[in-house]
Amino acid sequence: MEAFFSQSVICYLSGAIPSNVSRYMTSSDISPVKRGKRKSFSYQDTRKLVKHFGYKGLVPKKKVQVFFNFKGGTGKTSVCYHISSFFALCGFNVLVVDCDPQAHLSYSWGFDIYDDYKTLYDVIVNHVPFEEAVVEVCEGVHCLPSNLSLTRLELPLNQMPNRERVFGKLISPIKDKYDFIFIDTNPTISTINRNVTLASDELNVVCETQPYSLRGLEILIDEILHLSEVMDMQISYKIIPNKYESKTATSQEALGKLRLDYKNHLMNSVIRKCEDVNVAAKRMLPVFFWGNKNSNAFEDFCDLGKEMIENSTSQGTFYNTNNQ
Ligand SMILES: Nc1ncnc2c1ncn2[C@@H]1O[C@H](COP(=O)(O)OP(=O)(O)O)[C@@H](O)[C@H]1O
Ligand SMILES: [Mg+2]
Repeated sequence: MEAFFSQSVICYLSGAIPSNVSRYMTSSDISPVKRGKRKSFSYQDTRKLVKHFGYKGLVPKKKVQVFFNFKGGTGKTSVCYHISSFFALCGFNVLVVDCDPQAHLSYSWGFDIYDDYKTLYDVIVNHVPFEEAVVEVCEGVHCLPSNLSLTRLELPLNQMPNRERVFGKLISPIKDKYDFIFIDTNPTISTINRNVTLASDELNVVCETQPYSLRGLEILIDEILHLSEVMDMQISYKIIPNKYESKTATSQEALGKLRLDYKNHLMNSVIRKCEDVNVAAKRMLPVFFWGNKNSNAFEDFCDLGKEMIENSTSQGTFYNTNNQ
C-alpha cells in the first residue's frame, strides 16, 4: 500500500521514544523517505518499526474476533475496519471475513460489487477452498469479501449436518496462517452468525451509547448466554461502546449504565462520535493512514486496538518496556 507515516505517528502507535527510533535506524535497513521537508516511513517499514517497539514477541491468544450486534448501524463494520488496520500496522497478519451481504467492509478494503470474486457462499456451498477465495488487500491484511450471494447462504447452511459448526471447521486449517481473524457480521440472529459466534475466541459487541441500544443489548446478551447453554460452551464476550457524545446527557447516562451493568465485559476504551469515521468510509482508507493523531477517531481506535492486543495476546504487557 502506498502510504507514509511520520516518526511521531510511529511513536504514538508503538509507545516508542523518538530518540530510540532514530538510534534503531542506524543499525537496521530501515531509512526514512524524504517527502518535501518532512521525513516519513513507508507502510512496510512502519509495520516493522511499530512491531519492533510495541508488539514484538506477543503470541496471539484470542485469534478469532467477531464484531456483532443484531442492531444495524452500531458501528460493527467501522470498528472491524479500523481495528484490523491497526493490528496490521502493529505488524500482525490479519484475515478479515465479511459476513454481511451489504459488503461495506469489502468496499472499504477496495472491492467493487462488479468485481468477480469469491465469498463465504462459494466457500461453504460450492466448496471453494478458503485459501483460494481469500485476497491480499495490503501487506498484513487478507480479506474474504462478501456480496449479495450471502443472502442465499442460510437455506443450504441450514440443511447441512452440524450446521452451527460449519464455519469453525472451515477456518480451523487456515488459523495458523494468521495472527488474527476479524469477522464482520450482518445484524440478524442467523445461522451464519451463530456459526461465527461459536467459532470465536472473543465476541465483540459494538454498542451505541444510546437508550434503545442498551435495551437491545440486554436481549442480545440473553441470546449469547442461551446459545452458550444450548451448545454447552463458554462464549467470551466484550462490549465496545461507540458513538459516545460527552456533551449529551443520554450518552453519558448510557455509558454510566453500561459501566454499572456490564462491569466485567465492558472495554475501558470508548469510541467517541467523530466525523473522521464517516470520512474514512468515504475515502476507503482507515483513519491511521491519513488522519491527524489528535483526531478523536485516531486516538480512540488506537486506544481500543492497544486494549484488544493486551486482552488477546499472551505476555500481559503490550509495550516493550525497555524501549530498545
Ligand atoms: N464513532 C463514530 N462516529 C461517527 N460516525 C460513526 C461512528 N461509528 C460508526 N459511524 C457511522 O455510523 C454509520 C454506521 O456504521 P457501520 O460501521 O456501518 O455500522 P454497522 O456495521 O453496525 O451497521 C456509518 O455511517 C459510520 O460511518
Ligand atoms: Mg456493517
